[in-house]
Amino acid sequence: MKATAQTPADVLVAKAQDRSALIGIVGLGYVGLPLAMEFARAGFQVLGFDVSKPVVEALTQGRSHVQDVPSADVARFTKEGKFAATTDLARLHEPDVVSICVPTPLSKTKDPDVSYVLAATNAVKQALRRGQLIVLESTTYPGTTRELMLPALEGTGLKVGEDFFLAFSPERVDPGNPKWNTHNTPKVVGGLTAACRRVAMAIYEPAIERLVAVSSTEAAELVKILENTFRSVNIGLVNEMAIVCDKLGVDVWEVIEAAATKPFGFMKFTGPRRRGALYPARSALSRLEDAHAQLPHAIHRAGGRDQRGDARILGRPRGRSPERAGARGAGQQGAGGGRRLQEGHRRCPREPGPRCDPVAAAARRGGVVSRSARPQAQA
Ligand SMILES: NC(=O)c1ccc[n+]([C@@H]2O[C@H](COP(=O)([O-])OP(=O)(O)OC[C@H]3O[C@@H](n4cnc5c(N)ncnc54)[C@H](O)[C@@H]3O)[C@@H](O)[C@H]2O)c1
Repeated sequence: MKATAQTPADVLVAKAQDRSALIGIVGLGYVGLPLAMEFARAGFQVLGFDVSKPVVEALTQGRSHVQDVPSADVARFTKEGKFAATTDLARLHEPDVVSICVPTPLSKTKDPDVSYVLAATNAVKQALRRGQLIVLESTTYPGTTRELMLPALEGTGLKVGEDFFLAFSPERVDPGNPKWNTHNTPKVVGGLTAACRRVAMAIYEPAIERLVAVSSTEAAELVKILENTFRSVNIGLVNEMAIVCDKLGVDVWEVIEAAATKPFGFMKFTGPRRRGALYPARSALSRLEDAHAQLPHAIHRAGGRDQRGDARILGRPRGRSPERAGARGAGQQGAGGGRRLQEGHRRCPREPGPRCDPVAAAARRGGVVSRSARPQAQA
């Protein structure tokens, strides 16, 4: 009997199962490096790409620049031949899988800056070959994978779901968190087609404890936006409470801790250890508005006034009102307030500034960008 020819999807799934797939990670920062280590730990060979020569040189010498990744791991996997890093993006044809973990900062006007995603997509496009899986992990606005990446990649003549595979899987890393890491944090996966999702699930399965499949890349992109918005709204809410507490001379922390004893329907969602670059809903919304999509006005507001309030409580020591602590109100918060906000924030290789700390940026500017003042987001 004649054997049925294996499709590129079958080949990749088999390579995931026997760990012979070469995994490429583009962007070896707070998201990409821990992911690279997880794939190496799962038994894959990993080739990391970064445009930063110092980052690649340090990693090649076995030195990690990411707090959650011990240098010993980088050194061990490098020595075992499981991990290598390069600045040579022309080598992107080598990996079977390319996971894109580049920054998506907010522009001055708090619109999403997808220029890094575009640059990475273009580099992937130059090297794209039959049988590759491309996964975007960067936080972004809904539609990025289908509208921005897909046309570029299909411009090569290769067909998604048949010749190559495309998926979105948002990163949930929480730098410095002692309990939740890249390995044990459930990972959401959405594919452009059913075959894309199947292949992506097969690839991540050996490296990540639990995968959550969703029906599309848009659903996966919106999961991340919902998570960020949920956090943003809750922090904003608590900061409104802080204003009320100040007026009444009550310690807001006492109120938060007591409320958190309720075993259901309440989530304590604030604290001086808030970390991670927050990509607020308003930034996604500015793109959605272009597409005439509707989100509740309350969510829109969460990225503005409420995040200005964010600086208020996060900069405040427990048990002290701003008056007693000698702090200024959020509306007047200047460089000092900004510095306090940065304490306990993720240890960013760069000083947290407008690029990687939109909340601090909003606090410095007064937190409000009017609709008319907001230019169109760049595609
Ligand atoms: N850090 C977090 O806590 C966190 C959590 C969840 C999601 N995210 C998202 O993950 C993405 C990556 O964030 P990060 O914190 O890892 O950023 P990072 O700044 O720590 O690392 C990004 C790396 O990408 C490299 N890079 C930039 N452009 C490149 C290109 N074209 N090709 C190759 N390398 C390139 C940079 O040199 C840098 O080393 C962002 O979209 C971010 O919003 C971050």
